[in-house]
Amino acid sequence: MISKHVLVVSSLTHRKMKVALLMGGSSSEREISLMSGAEVEAALRRLGHDVITVDPAVDGVAVLAQSRPDAAFLALHGQYGEDGCIQGTLEMLGIPYTGSRVLASAVAMDKTVSKVLFGAAEVSTPPSVTVDRSAAPELSLARAQSIGFPCVVKPSSQGSTVGITIVKESAALADALELAFRSDPDALIEKYIAGTEVTVGVLGTRDPRALPTLEIVPTNEFYDWDSKYTPGKSEHVVPARIPETARAECERLAVKAHVALKCRGYSRVDMIVEPSGQVWVLEVNTLPGLTKVSLLPDAARAEGISFDQLIQTILNSAFDE
Ligand SMILES: Nc1ncnc2c1ncn2[C@@H]1O[C@H](COP(=O)(O)OP(=O)(O)O)[C@@H](O)[C@H]1O
Ligand SMILES: [Mg+2]
Repeated sequence: MISKHVLVVSSLTHRKMKVALLMGGSSSEREISLMSGAEVEAALRRLGHDVITVDPAVDGVAVLAQSRPDAAFLALHGQYGEDGCIQGTLEMLGIPYTGSRVLASAVAMDKTVSKVLFGAAEVSTPPSVTVDRSAAPELSLARAQSIGFPCVVKPSSQGSTVGITIVKESAALADALELAFRSDPDALIEKYIAGTEVTVGVLGTRDPRALPTLEIVPTNEFYDWDSKYTPGKSEHVVPARIPETARAECERLAVKAHVALKCRGYSRVDMIVEPSGQVWVLEVNTLPGLTKVSLLPDAARAEGISFDQLIQTILNSAFDE
């Protein structure tokens, strides 16, 4: 089968470029970024590009102004890399960069704000409330009770499952909130959805398309840090073992979520599918992992897009309007 994506990918121009590969950074996902960066560097070199690696936490960003690359490839994750900060810096330096721009990056990083936009775009997302660090415990409890137990408590703006707790009863709420508040002054209390966990990669800007729905089978209670980054701790199944109609709905909602947040080039949308087929969107990742065990490269491969083709496609997104 020749997929629609292979056609899109292979028709892209491929001029040799001087690429500044940004990797590392100072977020809690630094180690993951270094792993993504190593894979991306090898691919960019295989593609014939001239690569300079820049670690914003070590080299600073001034080096970008001096080296004047044709484009910056962002293999960063989390704070300062995925949240619009480095994107703003690159805008000011006039250096084209991969993936979403300032607005989409900042919005996608904040789950509370993202969910408001999902609601406006009719992208179904689990009911939730947001509480802030200064709220009285009784108020937080009342708000959590309005969502019901079990619920999921997460920092509004962190990634990679740092500070997330599944709260089964009211007695466990205070500790979960305290953990979430270590990462962010706002915590999201979201209805717990039991079902199949899936994620959908999206490629494109003006006419984005979904990659096949990928099912995540964690060996731990949920898709936590350990199951995300330890090889063998979670299994990826493509296409997801859910009814065809639910898969189509996941792909439709992924594109809708990507467009709702104004993402550019690529993203990966996390969701849960209930046994009834109801799909709930959790979040959009604007700089999803590109390591050997990452989800997006696996979904692309299932569509006939090699890792190198994916990296070239992402690089080209730096020039999307
Ligand atoms: N509402 C929810 N219901 C059930 N599980 C959830 C819910 N929210 C999060 N999870 C679990 O926690 C993981 C991380 O949550 P997510 O919202 O994707 O944040 P992040 O990946 O940014 O840390 C999910 O992949 C899922 O396993
Ligand atoms: Mg996630």
